[in-house]
Amino acid sequence: MALIRETDYGTPKRISGTLVTIEVDGKPVSAPAGTSVLRAAAEAGIQIPRLCASDNLEPFGSCRLCLVEVEGRRGSPASCTTPCENGMKVRTQSPKLEKLRKGVMELYASDYPREMFENAASGNTEFQQMITAVGLKEVRYGYKSKNHQDGLKDDSNPYFEFDQSKCIVCSRCVRACEEVQGTFALTIDGRGFASFVSAGDKPFMESECVSCGACVQACPTDALLEKSVVERGRPDHSVVTTCAYCGVGCSFNAELNGNEVVRMTPNKDGKANHGHSCVKGRFAYGYSTHKDRILKPMIRAKFTDPWREVTWDEAINYTASEFKRIQAKYGRDSIGGITSSRCTNEETYLVQKMIRAAFGNNNTDTCARVCHSPTGYGMKTTLGTSAGTQDFDSVQAADVIMIIGANPTDAHPVFASQMKRRLREGARLIIVDPRKIDLVKTPHVKANCHLPLLPGTNVAMINSLAHVIVTEGLVNEEYVQERCDLVAFDQWRKFVAEERNSPEAMEKYTGVPAADVRAAARLYATGGNGAIYYGLGVTEHSQGSTMVMGMCNLAMATGNFGKDGVGINPLRGQNNVQGSCDMGSFPHEYPGYRHVSQDAVRESFEQAWGVKLQTEPGLRIPNMIDAAIDGTFKGLYCQGEDIVQSDPNTQHMSRGLASMECVVVQDLFINETASYAHVFLPGASFLEKDGTFTNAERRLGRVRKAIEPLAGLGDWEVTMRLSTALGYPMHYNHPSEIMDEIARLTPTFAGVSFDLLDREGSVQWPCNDKAPLGTPIMHIGGFVRGKGRFMLTEFVPTDERVNARFPLILTTGRILSQYNVGAQTRRTDNNRWHDMDVLDIHPSDAEDRGINEGDLVSLASRSGDITLPARISERMQPGVVYTTFHHAMTGANVVTTEFSDWATNCPEYKVTAVQVQLARHMSEWQENYLETRRLTTQIEKESTAND
Ligand code: SF4
Ligand code: SF4
Ligand code: FES
Repeated sequence: MALIRETDYGTPKRISGTLVTIEVDGKPVSAPAGTSVLRAAAEAGIQIPRLCASDNLEPFGSCRLCLVEVEGRRGSPASCTTPCENGMKVRTQSPKLEKLRKGVMELYASDYPREMFENAASGNTEFQQMITAVGLKEVRYGYKSKNHQDGLKDDSNPYFEFDQSKCIVCSRCVRACEEVQGTFALTIDGRGFASFVSAGDKPFMESECVSCGACVQACPTDALLEKSVVERGRPDHSVVTTCAYCGVGCSFNAELNGNEVVRMTPNKDGKANHGHSCVKGRFAYGYSTHKDRILKPMIRAKFTDPWREVTWDEAINYTASEFKRIQAKYGRDSIGGITSSRCTNEETYLVQKMIRAAFGNNNTDTCARVCHSPTGYGMKTTLGTSAGTQDFDSVQAADVIMIIGANPTDAHPVFASQMKRRLREGARLIIVDPRKIDLVKTPHVKANCHLPLLPGTNVAMINSLAHVIVTEGLVNEEYVQERCDLVAFDQWRKFVAEERNSPEAMEKYTGVPAADVRAAARLYATGGNGAIYYGLGVTEHSQGSTMVMGMCNLAMATGNFGKDGVGINPLRGQNNVQGSCDMGSFPHEYPGYRHVSQDAVRESFEQAWGVKLQTEPGLRIPNMIDAAIDGTFKGLYCQGEDIVQSDPNTQHMSRGLASMECVVVQDLFINETASYAHVFLPGASFLEKDGTFTNAERRLGRVRKAIEPLAGLGDWEVTMRLSTALGYPMHYNHPSEIMDEIARLTPTFAGVSFDLLDREGSVQWPCNDKAPLGTPIMHIGGFVRGKGRFMLTEFVPTDERVNARFPLILTTGRILSQYNVGAQTRRTDNNRWHDMDVLDIHPSDAEDRGINEGDLVSLASRSGDITLPARISERMQPGVVYTTFHHAMTGANVVTTEFSDWATNCPEYKVTAVQVQLARHMSEWQENYLETRRLTTQIEKESTAND
């Protein structure tokens, strides 16, 4: 594997229907109108030296290195800022140009570390490459005159350093922060010789910088450089893979030195991220080699016993014999499994196959149960497909963006940057969220409407938005007539037009002034292409599925499906949550969302797998736990999910697991669920895997192995061995063979293969004969289900009510630097930003309770109570508090309730009635947690393992 060096064409690609032709060094070159001479030449293979230009930044024209001569024009214009014009004759080489460029480089080099100049031949930095390119051999001015060689060094950021002695003030970092990331944290302060890069007169760590790394990537001189490269040396080879954090699915080059990853650089060809990244994907990969990784299988008879390290064979045979014993004693349905949205499609497919074929039941579920299961249900019911309708690039054509219950700058940062770019260009923004999320007001972006509704009133809000559209004559009648089921539409139109659904009538529930709702509805319906993006603030409610259908109703009524710039777009949380649902992880569906009761579908799997399959759906996660407490469910295989920390009502979950006789956890670390486990099977990190992830756009991207599995086996190999030990042999030589089987059995994936992905980079499903290269935008010309189906969405307030004892509403979410249960990010320097969960509370609620910033407070609900520090925040509205669930010790889910979505059981994390009071010490649960954790995580030191 060679080190991938991506081509930089100097200035961005221009799109135009008009081609212009110029001559570069006598060679005819055609390019779309607006293309710079620098780029046109580069595309024709003629490299013009440059320093301040990069093809992800608008041209700047400051370094004067890219000078060229243009016939008939005086002087030497900068090729990066000179657009091609028909007939232009350009010369890139001449003695005069050579002299000019050498002179420029000599001046720069005279204020650049001498050793870096002397080592220019290494070509490690773009600056050194330019020294070689212009043929500069010596610096005549010497290094004694006034310079910046004693300049500032800022190593406050855990991941990169800034060394002013190497800075040539080219502004690439500043422009990357603005244009690529959209954060505007950096500026050039001072003038002339005294100008310098500044993070707002603060160290980087204290500034607005979000550590996305775009500045580091942009820097041509190593003035900004990853500390990992300083510590571990330069990479010598790289592998293209996909980020294992969120559902954006950024493509990365994992760059290695020997067997060690030294940096992750976002891949410019990545169709989801176009060369950008966030702090997690770029920097927070160190967990993969963290000392806490468990690399030997372990077993124990009771979960209070110490763990005993064993061989893979012993662990797998023990698991198989326990599962067989349990089924013999308690029946076939007494065991089940949970697939992982952190694992690849191939691994997930294999686990659900093992459950259906080897366990012999449909007791398979996945963590999508607790996040986007309502998306699947709601979109399938109205549109016919359980997935987002657009590609991310579609946002560039949106005129009105509505964000509902999502916080993209924290949870989907790379897509947020793309969205911010569109907003800076003039798209208008509606935010429906109880909190003032960042996008309500950031530099250069301000929401046109913010509807700060009370948690739990989404459906009231969507109905009142629909009411305005219907009663003010804003329905796209032509579109509805052509595309939708008219009987269902008429029923819906009458329903939402009822006065009880008006913004005025719903105001008592939502708390949002009716006039604001009316303004937002008019803007969405009349502002051009309307695109809705939403997150768990929509789905994690007792009416999550209803709300998804309500949004689909709204988009159908306004004609916002089936083209660029529109649609309903779930921002998926986990890297492969879309894929784990696609792969048949739910108890009622085979891969491709086909119900287990459909005879023809089931028979196709029976034939392919050579086994008789159950005809009824199996248990969902909450049913498994309830059945365990009832004594009928006794064995669980849980891969890559920490249900004790991530699922609601921790005490109930713990009770359920403690009631089982064999809990098997496969993971990287001893997580909270493993505290109740009898078998621990080491998992492999994404760097150790071959396979595919499917992101929020339905895009399948390749995951490629950068290093061998540290525990010796890939996750798919473990599943094969376990299935075989259970009596259902599985044989695959490589994950690509698993994908071939998926493609054979699933019409929407029929055209997918590793070969195709290697050729195309990535594809969006459906990918089959009708769409051999995938489907970026769905429902073009008609809905997948035929006619779009409007659904009645009656608002039913949640049973979780505030009262005098629990007067506040708790809502939960996540922040930029941490990821979900924190298993990965807590084992990285991302902890420097967020080393504990805090409770955000509005100043008036804090004052009522005598709470000051940083005070320890008790957060109590009907389910339980915890303590954590308070943060007083104007982002909250009075009556609503907010926390994250990244730290196990906090136990945020001790407080959340068992209420869930009526259709899918997705928990209602976003609405819990609570009280907040000053506290003096940890809660009883937290004290018990520490003791339980100490008891259940001990590993016997005398290892018996020998493989
Ligand atoms: S830090 Fe790097 S990118 Fe930023 S101005 Fe200096 S040399 Fe240019
Ligand atoms: S936006 Fe998501 S996929 Fe992209 S780098 Fe960040 S965490 Fe990874
Ligand atoms: S690259 Fe054109 S002026 Fe710097």
